[in-house]
Amino acid sequence: MVRILGIESSCDETSAAVCVEGRLLSNVVSAQVQHSGFGGVVPELASRLHQQHIVRVVQAALEQAGLRPADLDAVAFTRGPGLMGSLLVGTCFAKAFALGLGKPLIAVNHLQAHVLANFLHEAPPQFPFLCLTVSGGHTQLVLARGYRELELVGETKDDAAGEAFDKAAKLLGLGYPGGPLIDKAAQSGDANRFAFSAPRDASLEFSFSGLKTSLLYFLQAEMKKDAAFITKNLNDICASYQARIVTYLLEKLEQAAMQFGVRDLAIAGGVSANRELRSRFQQLCARRNWRAHVPAFEYCTDNAGMIALTGYYQFLAGEFCGHDVTPFSRDRFLED
Ligand code: KG4
Ligand code: ZN
Repeated sequence: MVRILGIESSCDETSAAVCVEGRLLSNVVSAQVQHSGFGGVVPELASRLHQQHIVRVVQAALEQAGLRPADLDAVAFTRGPGLMGSLLVGTCFAKAFALGLGKPLIAVNHLQAHVLANFLHEAPPQFPFLCLTVSGGHTQLVLARGYRELELVGETKDDAAGEAFDKAAKLLGLGYPGGPLIDKAAQSGDANRFAFSAPRDASLEFSFSGLKTSLLYFLQAEMKKDAAFITKNLNDICASYQARIVTYLLEKLEQAAMQFGVRDLAIAGGVSANRELRSRFQQLCARRNWRAHVPAFEYCTDNAGMIALTGYYQFLAGEFCGHDVTPFSRDRFLED
């Protein structure tokens, strides 16, 4: 029985989970609500809050799993990408904990873990499968041929899908994170009311900066005519803008699935919690006769469950790291 402790601290969630033989026994997530008034995550604040919470979160994960630290076989942690100050807290904690216990250490790539979160549900994907990872920092198309054979086949050139939501929410005067707020407002809005433009090209690369700018110019023009335009039309703006993002994401996903001839498709990352994306993804797969895989809500946004599970696969593959390992903040899908 392989028992792995997973630790996640890449952004604004302090999380710890215990995975035994590929199944989660606990997944404790402490989300930092203190950033909401700032319109984004404040890195220094995030790092300090991780420091305050990490011991309690790890203790709770072990207690819920009914395990003692000595029962663990390895400690897995998020090495990157993410905020450096935040990553350092999880990395230092994991190193010290593993060293104290005399257990091996496993460095996990956060983006690979988002893809593998699809193995946390009952009917997991069959290889090869294609995953659309959409989070606050990333938009990626990943072709998975095995647990440790993940290939990046497309990604964004500028903003991530989550940023397209978060920046729009800021323009609309909503709070942070913007994705869930736009999702909620869009529920009672008309998605066909306003048109926003997204790039049209045949590549598997994404670009969201034009879409965000088209919203900005649209709002500026309408506000000149009526200063209360946003308040009066909030739900329709959110529904139309959200629908444009979802259409754009699914067009590329469909194109990639045809290109690689896969029959299993998955979505992952914080934006995969979006109701419109989840339902239209299911519809697309049903129409094409593809198998659709969608992680449970708690495994879409940042969580240590996916880190512990990826750690488990790395344990089986003998992929451990030394205590000289350092976190990386920038976008790297595969470690060197
Ligand atoms: O994966 P995640 O928790 O953190 C990163 O690794 O970035 O993703 C956070 C992102 C934020 O941009 C947030 O606005 C977005 O996921 N998000 C959503 C929804 N829930 C979270 N976007 C759209 N609809 C949602 N329901
Ligand atoms: Zn994430």
